[in-house]
Amino acid sequence: MSNWMSKTDYEQWVASTRAERMAWWREARFGMFIHFGLYSQVGRNEWVMSLENYPIAEYEKLAETFNPRPGAPRQWAELAAKAGMKYMVMTTRHHEGFSLWDSKVNPYNSVNYGPKRDIVAEFVEACREFGLKIGFYSSLMDWHHPDGWRCAFDTEARLRFTHYLTELNRELLTNYGKIDVLWYDVAWPMTSWEGWDSLERNQIMRQLQPHLIINNRSQLDEDFGTPEEHITASEHDWEACMTFNGLSWGYVDSAQAIPYSYNAQRIIKMLQTTTLGGGNLLLNVGPMPDGSVPPEAIEPLTTVGRWLAENGAAVYGKKVKFSTWPASGVGGMSCDGANIYLWNWVWPRGGEMALGGFASPLRAVRLLKDGSPLQFEQRGHRILLKNLPPTPPDQTAGITVLQLEFDGPPEFHFASYYPQLHQGVDYAGENKI
Ligand code: GLC
Repeated sequence: MSNWMSKTDYEQWVASTRAERMAWWREARFGMFIHFGLYSQVGRNEWVMSLENYPIAEYEKLAETFNPRPGAPRQWAELAAKAGMKYMVMTTRHHEGFSLWDSKVNPYNSVNYGPKRDIVAEFVEACREFGLKIGFYSSLMDWHHPDGWRCAFDTEARLRFTHYLTELNRELLTNYGKIDVLWYDVAWPMTSWEGWDSLERNQIMRQLQPHLIINNRSQLDEDFGTPEEHITASEHDWEACMTFNGLSWGYVDSAQAIPYSYNAQRIIKMLQTTTLGGGNLLLNVGPMPDGSVPPEAIEPLTTVGRWLAENGAAVYGKKVKFSTWPASGVGGMSCDGANIYLWNWVWPRGGEMALGGFASPLRAVRLLKDGSPLQFEQRGHRILLKNLPPTPPDQTAGITVLQLEFDGPPEFHFASYYPQLHQGVDYAGENKI
């Protein structure tokens, strides 16, 4: 215990090494979350054990029938790469307490039961095959472990349980080579970092994997925030995690559910919101009982991947905060310095489109997808694009990205509600961004 840094020293150290550790993450923008476990067989939410008050012995029977087909993680990773995602995070052990690896400290696992295989090993191998960074989701809450609830009021139980969690995660971060992200979840029933021994555990984890990125759910701020089912920007690094259907992280039988899932356009809109706000999107897929990707996720993700293959410059890489106000009513703008990427959702009829607010001289405008130049005129703060094709040039999703090239970060003045203010040289400067 005394070998460990104090909270203040630790947080300072984490902050001072963050930029280097997180360089890839800050540019990756888009990842796949996988929720897979015994609950996938039930198809009524990964919380089913708790929500439906399953007796433990009855729930354990699901371990016998759990039988993901060989190669399932490979399908996830292949689709993630195809979708333009750069990393994956998989539930190694969700709240149900079942480990998907060859755990020595948790015999309730996928090597002793069900498939008799190490699914984590298969996942890691698949990520590496497709060049994806690797994240492990690890629940703090555990409904199966006898100390999982006693820890809240029994000191001995608490010590046993927090030790158990450390050993589980030690296995995960020791046995599979380089791991990039540790994604904790649900610090309950205890509610403080002291209760969970997070300070010590996270230092151990960082010793095991010096480049590890840790999320903010172990009651310490660590590296990044995790808005869930909403996309809300913040000053610190953040990653919005979103379900694919607004219903559940674990598989739900889409034939039995309200038919709702994201199409490519909605996913691209989420990417726009995260990119403009400087964050990442971790989009969830809840594989079917046999581990297959639900069919309704395949087409949208593949389309997003095709769109990103042509328009990725608007999304990936270092982006600078630009105006949250738009230059027109047709979409948002991301910026990497000299380039503004205008995500167009409403292609104009009549071959012309105007953008308001840019005070810097524009060098060129092109279609991002193929670099073809567009004609333009710049009159004061107004850019007039001319001779545009009659239909959206983007054939993949209908969302065309225009690249506006300036000499450096452009000066931009939001209209301030009065278009006249854009005309004059005596612009007062309010709302200057
Ligand atoms: C939660 C839920 C959980 C899900 C997670 C994803 O807090 O308990 O089931 O895994 O969020 O962010």
